Amino acid sequence: MSGDWFLIVAFLIGYLLGSIPFGLILTRLAGTQDLRSIGSGNIGATNVLRTGRKGLAAATLIGDMLKGTVAVIIAGSYDGPDAAMLAALGAFLGHLFPVWLGFKGGKGVATYIGVLLGLFWPAALVFAAIWLATAFTSRYSSLSALVAAFVTPIFLWWFGHNALASLFAVLTLMLFYMHRENIKRLQSGTEGKIGEKR
Ligand code: G3P
Repeated sequence: MSGDWFLIVAFLIGYLLGSIPFGLILTRLAGTQDLRSIGSGNIGATNVLRTGRKGLAAATLIGDMLKGTVAVIIAGSYDGPDAAMLAALGAFLGHLFPVWLGFKGGKGVATYIGVLLGLFWPAALVFAAIWLATAFTSRYSSLSALVAAFVTPIFLWWFGHNALASLFAVLTLMLFYMHRENIKRLQSGTEGKIGEKR
């Protein structure tokens, strides 16, 4: 397949993998309440944790991460870095706007770190370290993701990965937009802390 065509295929592979809603699938299989009717209503690992099922939350985190990593690795190994970046964009958009759920998906944090892991793993380690440090001190999952995602494009640019820095600047903007309600709750002091059932 010629390179140009594969770029479209890479995006579509990313979108299809990214649109798999692991949180919803796993909680349905486990027979818990519909995620969209509890806590923040989000389909991500933080909200799965509000069901009290730590194992399911961890599995959701891993699934939502690895679908991004796998998309990047498949596309990158077939057609190089441009295809890998388009697969990353596709996976992130697939998680945010899955066709199966009427384009109402998650907020993208796990998939963000998953595609970052596939594209440039040291930046994923930095993201994880910043997330953990912020979560340890604040207990806010959303704030931890926002701080880590703010730093990521700067880190990539600092180390000369300009194309990746541009891609992740776009992903960070989208991630902030998806967290707009969390940001309002953080400002008003009503955001739930990690593990709290609201
Ligand atoms: O991964 C999403 C997290 O940053 C916030 O989740 O459920 O508190 O809106 P939630």
